[in-house]
Amino acid sequence: MDFLEIEWNSNLYRQEIELRDRLLRAPLGLSFTSEELEEESAEFHFVLVENGEVCACAVIVPICNDEVKLRQMAVTEHRQRQGLGTNLIRQIESTLVKRGIQKIQLNAREKAIPFYQRLGYQTVGDPFMEVGITHWKMHHHLVDC
Ligand SMILES: CC(C)(COP(=O)(O)OP(=O)(O)OC[C@H]1O[C@@H](n2cnc3c(N)ncnc32)[C@H](O)[C@@H]1OP(=O)(O)O)[C@@H](O)C(=O)NCCC(=O)NCCS
Repeated sequence: MDFLEIEWNSNLYRQEIELRDRLLRAPLGLSFTSEELEEESAEFHFVLVENGEVCACAVIVPICNDEVKLRQMAVTEHRQRQGLGTNLIRQIESTLVKRGIQKIQLNAREKAIPFYQRLGYQTVGDPFMEVGITHWKMHHHLVDC
């Protein structure tokens, strides 16, 4: 299992989009627009690859010098609950610490909250609606790790 930071619009990026579309968008009746994908050229794309297949992904958006937002976290269906999500987040966090990042924020779907809580992320404030489903804002201080 390889942990990679991949280039926007590369072959692996296109696999990342297929995974995100299947896991995060299609179930909600949504799809990516070309404008949304263009905007992602300024973001950082991290994946786990096994036998040439992207099994897990997450996107990191810079917020300021020492803070980022994690979005679009997904693990392929047949590999869920096998530690891949935990593995990917931990490797992203150690990469970000080396870049001087101290805090990660994210908007978690309600179903994913136990996953992030187990990794030390805490909910902040009240739930809100995004893409038609309930989300909670969560954050994690990497310096506290
Ligand atoms: C949420 C997701 C990223 C978790 O990745 P994963 O590789 O399955 O998670 P892990 O195997 O690392 O899970 C670690 C722990 O988190 C918790 N956890 C993970 N998924 C969970 C779920 N669906 N319900 C409750 N707890 C969960 C469990 O405590 C789990 O440990 P256990 O399996 O020993 O009980 C993955 O299930 C996924 O892609 N889901 C669909 C897309 C999605 O909802 N993405 C998040 C958007 S905010």
